[in-house]
Amino acid sequence: APVLPFINEPLTDFGQTENQEAMQAALKSVREECGLEYPIVISGKAYETRQMLNSRCPFDREIIVGRVSSATPDLANEAIDAARRTFSTWSAIDADHRAEYVELIARGLQERRLELASWIIYESGKPWIDADADVAEAIDFCHYYAESMRQMDHSLEADLPGEENEYFYRPRGVAVIISPWNFPLAILTGMTVAAIVTGNTVVMKPAEQSPVIAAKLMEIIRATGIPDGVVNYVPGIGEEIGPDLVSSPDVDIVAFTGSREVGLEINQKAAESTPAHNSVKRVVAEMGGKNAIIIDDDADLDEAVHGVVESAFGYSGQKCSACSRVIVLQPIYEEFCSRLKAAVETLQLGPCDNPGTKIGPVIDQDAQEKIEHYLEIGQEESELLVGIEVPNKLKKMGCYVGPHVFCNVSTSDRIAREEIFGPVLAVIQARDFSEAIRFANDTDFALTGGVYSRSPVNLKRARTEFRVGNLYLNRPCTGALVFRQPFGGYRMSGIGTKAGGPDYLHEFLIPINITENT
Ligand code: SER
Repeated sequence: APVLPFINEPLTDFGQTENQEAMQAALKSVREECGLEYPIVISGKAYETRQMLNSRCPFDREIIVGRVSSATPDLANEAIDAARRTFSTWSAIDADHRAEYVELIARGLQERRLELASWIIYESGKPWIDADADVAEAIDFCHYYAESMRQMDHSLEADLPGEENEYFYRPRGVAVIISPWNFPLAILTGMTVAAIVTGNTVVMKPAEQSPVIAAKLMEIIRATGIPDGVVNYVPGIGEEIGPDLVSSPDVDIVAFTGSREVGLEINQKAAESTPAHNSVKRVVAEMGGKNAIIIDDDADLDEAVHGVVESAFGYSGQKCSACSRVIVLQPIYEEFCSRLKAAVETLQLGPCDNPGTKIGPVIDQDAQEKIEHYLEIGQEESELLVGIEVPNKLKKMGCYVGPHVFCNVSTSDRIAREEIFGPVLAVIQARDFSEAIRFANDTDFALTGGVYSRSPVNLKRARTEFRVGNLYLNRPCTGALVFRQPFGGYRMSGIGTKAGGPDYLHEFLIPINITENT
């Protein structure tokens, strides 16, 4: 895997007038292109279906971002066949050449950077900075995995007199990529390029809520001149095509990012074997979290409040890494709560095409209703510390939920246990640091976690005792960067290894050993 210096794609500085103007112009032209239709693409051929997915803008439901053909199970199977047919030629291309294609994808993403961010803003309802980071992360995945593949592309040799041993990797075969709407470009790109750079062929199934940005990625992939059939674009309804994609005997690996519920279902379905199956599928699943930040009694509260607000309410809490529990030591509990309340009260909601918006909508009406239901549960179980009302004007236009913080939450409360995936934070009081760690670990998930403390002893304890995949000390628990913070959890948060890290490509490869008696 790449070693330093791996340089992450810099974020756009929207403080600069010229960047702000360029972004406004990109948004304007993307807005004019909203409503276009996009076909399914299999082996380079376009397929249109009668049933369409209408991708709606979360902050203005009147805007149809695009209309996308919705694959039937037959088309899903056709895409698997196309990927299977292309596998023998694609896997025979040398790794360096495959890496070059992936770098061309990165270049295509770079060239259309603000345009792509604009599609993400309209389709996924991300504020500017988050949308820009999404594109930057997609570019990082391309560079990182291309470089990783080059470094893995040699045999390990262990030769003895009379015996030659060679150890190397082969691709698995056909990869089905099932991606989420919350990092609609970054995660889709990451999983897809990891699969192709390692020599697999791909059936790409984006989330129903974000098929348009996926169609843009497909355009960029095709513009590199990559052979038809290496990547096939199959948008559709998960319930309709998911089962075929996941159980097909012709699929070798399923890479999924999304909810725990769907991840477990995929894992189970993928494991089923019939006489038609001649191998056991590999499943890579990044699932949810119920991430906690501990606030020690000596924490720098300026930093802690800011970090918690950013972690809990960035992209309206719709990151799997988001903080949804904050565990505060008793001596500073009251002060922390009052400062947190004041900070949350300053958060303003708004539409995401506006550069000043920090908090946009949630993804769709279903999500809004689910989160609102949790707000009722929270009121019954605990005490509302602060809840931001959604202005009527916004309510009429989009799927908004204001940030809410509940305090005096008990670890057994539902809002302390269930993943809400929205701007809802539970504050829990702990007697001492040991209890705080115990509370933090008292969940089925193990994704991210954070500690704000000035105590070297407690920070050291957290390193060994706080059981999460990504632990952050004295900083927010979101915003992992490729290479610097390889990202992923375990227990109910994931199966497989970390995205953007040194082990990820191994998931897509089979290690082989050949011994010759000489
Ligand atoms: N990688 C993202 C983050 O750290 C979550 O998917 O915020």
